[in-house]
Amino acid sequence: MKPISVFVCQKCGAQSPKWVGRCPECGAWGTLQEELKNPKTQKLKAKAGKKAAKLLKVGEITTDRTRRIRTGIGELDQVLGGGIIPGAVVLFAGEPGIGKSTLLTQLALKLTAGQNLKPRTTVYVCGEESPEQIKLRIARLSGEKKMGGMSNLLFLPETDVDLIIDATNRNLEPCPLVPQAASPCLAGGRARSGRRAKTRNLLIIDSIQTLFTTDLSGIAGSVSQVRECTQRLIELAKTRQIPVLLVGHVTKKGILAGPKTIEHAVDTVLYFEGERSADLRLLRSVKNRFGPTDEVGIFQMTDTGLKEVLDPASLLKPETRNQKPKPGSAAAVVFEGTRPMLVEVQALVTKTFTPMPKRVVNGLDRNRSEMLIAILQKHLHIPLWQYDVFLNIAGGFKVKEPAADLAVCAAIYSSYKNKSLLAKSVFIGEVSLLGEINMVSRMKKREKQARALGFKQVITASQVKSLSKIREWIMSDE
Ligand code: TYD
Ligand code: MG
Repeated sequence: MKPISVFVCQKCGAQSPKWVGRCPECGAWGTLQEELKNPKTQKLKAKAGKKAAKLLKVGEITTDRTRRIRTGIGELDQVLGGGIIPGAVVLFAGEPGIGKSTLLTQLALKLTAGQNLKPRTTVYVCGEESPEQIKLRIARLSGEKKMGGMSNLLFLPETDVDLIIDATNRNLEPCPLVPQAASPCLAGGRARSGRRAKTRNLLIIDSIQTLFTTDLSGIAGSVSQVRECTQRLIELAKTRQIPVLLVGHVTKKGILAGPKTIEHAVDTVLYFEGERSADLRLLRSVKNRFGPTDEVGIFQMTDTGLKEVLDPASLLKPETRNQKPKPGSAAAVVFEGTRPMLVEVQALVTKTFTPMPKRVVNGLDRNRSEMLIAILQKHLHIPLWQYDVFLNIAGGFKVKEPAADLAVCAAIYSSYKNKSLLAKSVFIGEVSLLGEINMVSRMKKREKQARALGFKQVITASQVKSLSKIREWIMSDE
């Protein structure tokens, strides 16, 4: 029998047999979501409930499950906390065109065709592209010649989630890493006790927004479909110990449900960031049940796929480090996750011809930048209300840390004076509304990184307390 769905108000919980724009109970607009009245999972749980639930002592819990599958892509492994956990569901979220499919194709290639890794069967569900398109991408990534030995990489051009689960169950062996008796997570009992699979498998879904189940009437990509499909895939991952990697497009508010709707349900959420125009890509972990959060992997998009950037400092243009500094440029060291990175703050201050001067900010927080401009006006008495201020971080970086405040102020002042700052100097510090410079965390690491890159002078709150000292950092003679 086909399960019947109901529409449930997400605000007050009222139910309605059909969709209405306004909740008849609480009057909220657009809060009704389709949900299954009789979810399959509940039926299964009811059946399983006949067996007595087992309580575990700490000693009985095995940590073997945390044995990780190394992906062979160092930056990705680092972000994941050492590799993929069997049975984990990882969400790769990002804007369309940022490189999610590229990264996952590279991962599939590494896992299935890598020389130093054991062969693993990977099923790549291509809901978005045709297998031909993916073949073209593989050719681009690995070259035509090497395409012979990829018999472990299987493609599934299908978007019905139940058919995908069925095909996975038939084609992929589970990875029983732990004896079944000791593992509370192998609920389905399909994994044979004590036996270790020779290969480990992986399921890649590109993307979750293209999947649907016929049990719900909503179109693929609607909130209810995305949630229900994710739930079913999580069940598959947990019962069969197959890691599932989901692609989720970040969407502008619209009919497609974004990754936020499933973040709570999956084990790990990775955001792929960057600007499509620039080639730098950051993979940021925002949630990780099995590893660190706020860890960042750095990649560069090239003609032949994503390349790991092992030395992020090398991204900064050499002229910032070695050549004569230019007016309006100041260097800072900010943290991306656990890594100190050198960034170049660029400022352009020009006379305005309108009553409302422009404040154009790229890569920095706009409100914070406006605050710093006001601080400079007040404490250094520079008439910035007569000037347009443009701010940018070189290379497409986004800086969120207040540790870059001092560099922003120095860059604006330098551009205003049209004189460059002291050569080989880096500016690290938070600027307060009172015009003071405050210390920031992890100072030693920042300083070490700056010195390693050849900066002679590290200007911080330990030497200077007041922003008015900024005047002394300008080159006296141009
Ligand atoms: P893609 O992985 O398809 O993005 P997503 O899946 O996140 O939507 O990446 C698309 C962009 O990457 C596209 O503009 C082409 C570019 N690209 C390269 O620059 N080099 C490459 O080797 C590949 C495969 C893609
Ligand atoms: Mg894609």
